[in-house]
Amino acid sequence: MALDFGDGYALRLAQWTDYGALNRVCLLTGDSGKDATAREDDPDLLGLIYAVPYQVLAPDFAFVVEGPGGVCGYVLGTPDSEGFYARMEREWFPPLARRLPDPGPDESTWTGSDWARRVIHHPEFVYPPVLQDYPAHGHIDLLEEARGRKIGSGALRLVMARLTAAGVPGMHLQVSPSNAGALAFYRALGFERLEDASLPEHTVFMAIRF
Ligand SMILES: CC(C)(COP(=O)(O)OP(=O)(O)OC[C@H]1O[C@@H](n2cnc3c(N)ncnc32)[C@H](O)[C@@H]1OP(=O)(O)O)[C@@H](O)C(=O)NCCC(=O)NCCS
Repeated sequence: MALDFGDGYALRLAQWTDYGALNRVCLLTGDSGKDATAREDDPDLLGLIYAVPYQVLAPDFAFVVEGPGGVCGYVLGTPDSEGFYARMEREWFPPLARRLPDPGPDESTWTGSDWARRVIHHPEFVYPPVLQDYPAHGHIDLLEEARGRKIGSGALRLVMARLTAAGVPGMHLQVSPSNAGALAFYRALGFERLEDASLPEHTVFMAIRF
């Protein structure tokens, strides 16, 4: 166990047996921190894009929160976003793409999880020079039962300490602008908003130097 939060909640390294739970937590928090079940027709694709590959490609920085009822959250990091994205494109997405239809480029025809199927067939990664001072990135999501117990801050600090020990100078995270709770959480941990013309406008980039 990496951290004990009390009341039956603890942090431990994720393993392959957690993939179902990673997909489930990702779905239940996938709509700017809220449940995305009603939006998606494939319950696993969010997790197969934003959670599982982190355990596969950067297992030393992939943790789950185990609660009284099982896995109820995760914090995932990768020290080298550029290398991670290259492996996602080369190794992770092609086998997924072989078993999923490409919905085509016309967004107006997309329904359900078509957006995810499109990402899997045509991945686009955002890593302009302004992010390169913060080469690590990650994701953190807790189910409602686990929130407000200092689990998120404890878990993310532990991953940041591991990244620092690995020689990484900084980290960035993407947040939906409508996710006010997450934005306040990252600010409380010392992250600041990055503003740059090279960054897409539909998402907020929060960054910290270690
Ligand atoms: C955002 C999230 C990871 C925070 O984890 P957490 O364990 O609930 O947060 P902590 O208890 O460690 O909070 C640490 C500090 O962050 C701030 N904070 C956390 N959640 C907050 C919220 N909803 N609103 C305002 N501030 C918040 C507070 O300053 C808090 O300190 P305090 O409790 O002394 O006031 C968690 O609530 C979560 O997973 N939410 C849903 C999924 C999500 O939005 N993920 C982020 C996607 S980018």
